[in-house]
Amino acid sequence: MLLARFGFESGAESLEKKFGRSKLRISVIGCGYVGLVTGTCLAEAGHQVVCTDNDPQRITALKAGVVPIYEPHLDAMLAANHRSQKLSFTSDAGEAVRAGEAIFICVGTPPLENGEADLSAIDNVARLIAAEACESKLVVEKSTVPAQTGQQLKRVLGVYRRNGSVEFRVASNPEFLREGTAVEDFLHPDRVVFGVEDEVSEKQLREIYRPILERRFRCPVHMSPCPATEPPTLVVTTINSAELIKHASNSFLAMKISYANMIADVCEKVGGDIKEVTRAMGLDPRIGPRFLDAGLGFGGFCLPKDVQAFIRLAERSGVDFSMLKEAERVNKRRIDLFVEKIRQALWVVKDKQVGVLGLAFKANTDDIRFAPSLEVLRRLLAEGAQVRAYDQEAMDKTSAIFPQVRYFREPYEVAHGADALLILTEWPEFRQLDWERVYGIMARPLVIDGRNLLEPAAMAEHGFEYHGFGRTLENLAPAAPPVPASAFKAASAGAELPLVS
Ligand code: UDX
Repeated sequence: MLLARFGFESGAESLEKKFGRSKLRISVIGCGYVGLVTGTCLAEAGHQVVCTDNDPQRITALKAGVVPIYEPHLDAMLAANHRSQKLSFTSDAGEAVRAGEAIFICVGTPPLENGEADLSAIDNVARLIAAEACESKLVVEKSTVPAQTGQQLKRVLGVYRRNGSVEFRVASNPEFLREGTAVEDFLHPDRVVFGVEDEVSEKQLREIYRPILERRFRCPVHMSPCPATEPPTLVVTTINSAELIKHASNSFLAMKISYANMIADVCEKVGGDIKEVTRAMGLDPRIGPRFLDAGLGFGGFCLPKDVQAFIRLAERSGVDFSMLKEAERVNKRRIDLFVEKIRQALWVVKDKQVGVLGLAFKANTDDIRFAPSLEVLRRLLAEGAQVRAYDQEAMDKTSAIFPQVRYFREPYEVAHGADALLILTEWPEFRQLDWERVYGIMARPLVIDGRNLLEPAAMAEHGFEYHGFGRTLENLAPAAPPVPASAFKAASAGAELPLVS
């Protein structure tokens, strides 16, 4: 479904002349997760892209082909597009501003003390663009911002404009990229949102996204042809609506996770298996199966801060978004519940060898910002535990915060001599461990699974004392057949749970 508010298809020949080509000059300001993925994917789609950042070391590293973040496919794509000169980097922000017909603002909007988004980086970039632009520009907000930021952006661009003949058009194009699958999400989005207030901006954004909307690009993610899925839906809205769509989507996902976590708590109390409950819930298309995984709760740089910013935005507008506050409270309580499980199992935490598997806020990323693991580590260390940890990507970043933790290059070393093994990130690698071997090397075969990654029955069969969230062995349905040893391997390979009727 195409929702075009300005009906540009008719009578837009001059526009076609102006922007009817697939290669545009694009500037990207901010080389973090969003900026690097956006810039690289737009170059991959055929555009001429220049990226800038206020950290000159980052730009020097990028020029040398060093990507400062772990994101599947990004290194290779960045290198290839840099080589073919479709993607370049500069620390001269003015040069970057002058280069692009369209400028994507991808700077950070971190939370302030009070939870509101800090928009100072957006304000700085707006003043820079206003001062440096010598020709008219489309200025696109890609960073997640509260509603009405676009209006402020327009005002600042106008107020600080040096060249009276330069015209600025502002648009919002929220990103829905998940870390770990950001490249795939950019190139194969389920929806693309343009928040615009004029026909020219819509036309230009359509041209920028045309290769992606029409799937006319060489896909670096899928080796063979891309999976046959529905083409992305383009949604054209006002700027305010586009800004709200981003906050409303992330906040809803956060509420969904907190809801699943509350169901898990009820399962533990009344006897039920959260995986069975959420699986059956998710089969209702009105609910859907995703974001119902119970455990340690949501972390990362987006969901927690977007929830807070949305609560504050609602408050300032006179709306008490209490259900969102509750979702946030439920999320914070997950750590308390998890640490309580550790205390109950270990009795005395002090001097115990505690092995930690997983530090990143979720699998397939090295990002530990607002990761539940950080608070778990802090509390274990405060209680005097001897902590040893493994994560395939996030150890360097974590060791900078917790140098007193011992880090190992493989999970079995962490398990060796441990009194308890904690799973804090849903890395698939942990499912595939040789649990018989783990059993043999631990001081005490105790696993506390903060991500419900493993099967309680299979773990019991291996001789482990196992605790997850909302699924204990006693609570498994009585009709479930006894699990043969071979089922452990099947569960490890990610096989589906049987739905017991
Ligand atoms: C999120 C949004 O999904 C994305 O659309 C937006 O653009 C950026 O923010 P991301 O922060 O990469 O993406 O992580 P996401 O996959 O949403 O996971 C967030 C957190 O929720 C992780 O800590 C994850 O472990 C947790 N989670 C996710 C659950 O606890 N249960 C679930 O069922 C799903």
